[in-house]
Amino acid sequence: MRRDARDIEDRADCERLVRAFYGRAMTDPVIGFLFVDVAKLDLEAHVPVIASFWETILLGARSYGGGAFAPHAALHAKAPLRAGHFERWLVLWRATVDELFAGERAELAKAHALRVARAFHGRLEAMDAAAGPPPATGGLPITLHGPRLTADPQR
Ligand code: HEM
Ligand code: HEM
Repeated sequence: MRRDARDIEDRADCERLVRAFYGRAMTDPVIGFLFVDVAKLDLEAHVPVIASFWETILLGARSYGGGAFAPHAALHAKAPLRAGHFERWLVLWRATVDELFAGERAELAKAHALRVARAFHGRLEAMDAAAGPPPATGGLPITLHGPRLTADPQR
């Protein structure tokens, strides 16, 4: 965390944070393809929506209408979003927040991202479980048991 950094104060700060994050995320070797190749994300259309999401959470703006999960379920149907993808997303998000800002809202931005990432990943796993095993392709079906991978990425 930079000692001279200030906290997130207004919508312009949210936009700056979001742009810096996508600069990293879209070129990232682990998750970049999800934005670029799978979702074919239109960044200029997307930035204002994500800025509103964070403005709502961090500054109480009510500019975001909700329903954030649905596009991730759609993405997951095209390319499965795994624990490792969410962990990578969080690493990039935390690094971007810490690089640009410091303070209570900066901490909240990191904490809330972790909650949302866990919730999204849990909901996707529940959807997969409800849908049952994927169609048999002739090999042995492989199922995963035991503790969740993302129990606590901060530990
Ligand atoms: C200042 C207070 C807060 C605000 C303004 C806020 C705002 C939001 C918004 C706008 C969303 C997206 C909702 C959607 O897309 O439909 C969200 C999602 C979520 N928030 Fe918060 N939040 C706050 C505090 C908290 C706290 C204290 C927790 C838990 C301790 C929490 C846990 C979650 C979770 C788990 C989700 C994801 C829900 C899902 O599965 O879609 N939030 N929040
Ligand atoms: C592996 C992790 C993730 C990937 C690959 C991902 C990817 C995407 C993509 C491609 C979209 C745009 C979908 C579209 O409009 O076509 C999107 C939307 C969005 N994402 Fe994520 N995301 C991830 C995790 C998260 C997390 C952890 C959060 C919150 C902290 C989040 C918040 C949002 C929000 C708010 C939107 C806008 C939804 C709307 O249109 O209202 N994402 N994401």
